[in-house]
Amino acid sequence: MAANRTFSIIKPDATRRNLTGAVTKMLEEAGLRVVASKRIRMTREQAEGFYAVHKERPFFNDLVAFMTSGPVVVQVLEGEDAVKRNRDVMGATNPENAEEGTIRKTYAESIEANSVHGSDSDENAATEIAFFFKPEEIVG
Ligand code: PPS
Repeated sequence: MAANRTFSIIKPDATRRNLTGAVTKMLEEAGLRVVASKRIRMTREQAEGFYAVHKERPFFNDLVAFMTSGPVVVQVLEGEDAVKRNRDVMGATNPENAEEGTIRKTYAESIEANSVHGSDSDENAATEIAFFFKPEEIVG
């Protein structure tokens, strides 16, 4: 399959523990290339918009509070089969269920503070990339 793109967030629990480089190294070692990256403090409006699909879920307010609790690093990743490749190296949402060698097994603290987000489909990747990046900010 041709190289394509996905969207990643290094979450506040990881930036707080100075793990931006360590997480990025695992992404790179999995065959993904960082073609755009910026460290931001998400606003409440951004977090609510980004996670709007989860707004009826019981954890929505906690998720928004957590994602705005500290800096995050939003990234565009490029690689062969990028969405699946990224989700494989991330591991399961709940670190208790994540496989050895995955980012979440290695670094996540809980199902909320689970260190990384990754798009779950090519369609969502395109939407999520456009939410945070202008085309000219992505340098492949
Ligand atoms: S889905 O749609 O069922 O696959 O959703 P899921 O992957 O389970 O979770 C979606 C995002 O919500 C976060 N999450 C939680 N946050 C706080 N508290 C609880 N209990 C909780 N459960 C799930 C989870 O980390 C996912 O975040 P992202 O950023 O999408 O990975």
